[in-house]
Amino acid sequence: MNDSSLVANAADFRAQLIDWYDQSARDLPWRSHPSLYKTVVSEFMLQQTQVKTVLPYFHNWLQVFPGFEALASASEEAVVKQWEGLGYYSRARNLHKLARIVSDLDSIPTDAKSWLALPGIGPYAAAAVCSIAFSDPSAVVDGNVVRILSRLVADRSEYKTTTDAAKTYQSLATALLNHARPGDHNQAMMELGATLCQKQKPQCLLCPVQSLCQARAQGIETAIPRFNKTKAVKQTVERAWIVSPKGVLLYRIPQTASRMKGLHEIPSLEALNLKTPRTSPLIVRQRSITKYRITERFHEISADKAFNGDLPDHFLWANPDSIASLTFSGPHRKWITELIDLVSEK
Ligand code: ADE
Repeated sequence: MNDSSLVANAADFRAQLIDWYDQSARDLPWRSHPSLYKTVVSEFMLQQTQVKTVLPYFHNWLQVFPGFEALASASEEAVVKQWEGLGYYSRARNLHKLARIVSDLDSIPTDAKSWLALPGIGPYAAAAVCSIAFSDPSAVVDGNVVRILSRLVADRSEYKTTTDAAKTYQSLATALLNHARPGDHNQAMMELGATLCQKQKPQCLLCPVQSLCQARAQGIETAIPRFNKTKAVKQTVERAWIVSPKGVLLYRIPQTASRMKGLHEIPSLEALNLKTPRTSPLIVRQRSITKYRITERFHEISADKAFNGDLPDHFLWANPDSIASLTFSGPHRKWITELIDLVSEK
């Protein structure tokens, strides 16, 4: 990577970026009347998630948990319920733990290094929170920033993952940081990546730093950054749609599970020790999680076939009223609605 000419022009870069941000920043709810709490909540929600998805969650969250104390005194169940549908539920649990720690502190640390010790806080979140809330001079590097910087220096190297590339770009991001306004500079980088320097169709003509962009000068911006292609892994999950007079059979993911503990789902045949029926499934749905392409097949199975007598551990019958109040993992709530509609039409 040759970043010397960009670093030599760092003052121009900072000035052009911040002028553009002052004119074009989106009016986002964590930006008006900012607070440490709003900054932390928004940064947790925005990890791996787009702004437009986060907006309604952020709004509701602030109504239900208006500050660290309210969040700290809520139950984990209530916190995860409020997060339902946003995915990556460990973020909600970590945010809850963080609120409990922060509410007990006499004085809250203001530098990124100290924040790294808190639950759910990695280098990106530490830099984002501390720069925005405390003007700590720490540069953020996420996928957006990697894209911008690798294009600026026309870096053709191939990276394994975004995390690898982020490590490579930390020092350049730090060299470019605007020390007068570190939080706004970081948010301007995020904003540029999200709105103009996009993966597929970057809008270079509108870009405030296009004159400094070597990829643009060479016409290779869409080919950068380069990542090793990871192969999608295909999986199939067979599930049981079992209805009795007591309701729909659901599975509650045990607390000992590594992911999505306490959330509910339509049980897999595997969890029920049932064989895959020969009849065709009621519905088949596809979904993607990280590198997995999952086919979910839902089989109608009569209640008396599933088991005799008491329900095994972790299973429950849920009537329509309780379904509304339970927390579901992934798209299970949507599938349940579809299956209820489908079976009632039959
Ligand atoms: N993505 C992560 N943090 C963000 C922020 N503060 N504003 C816009 N997008 C973001």
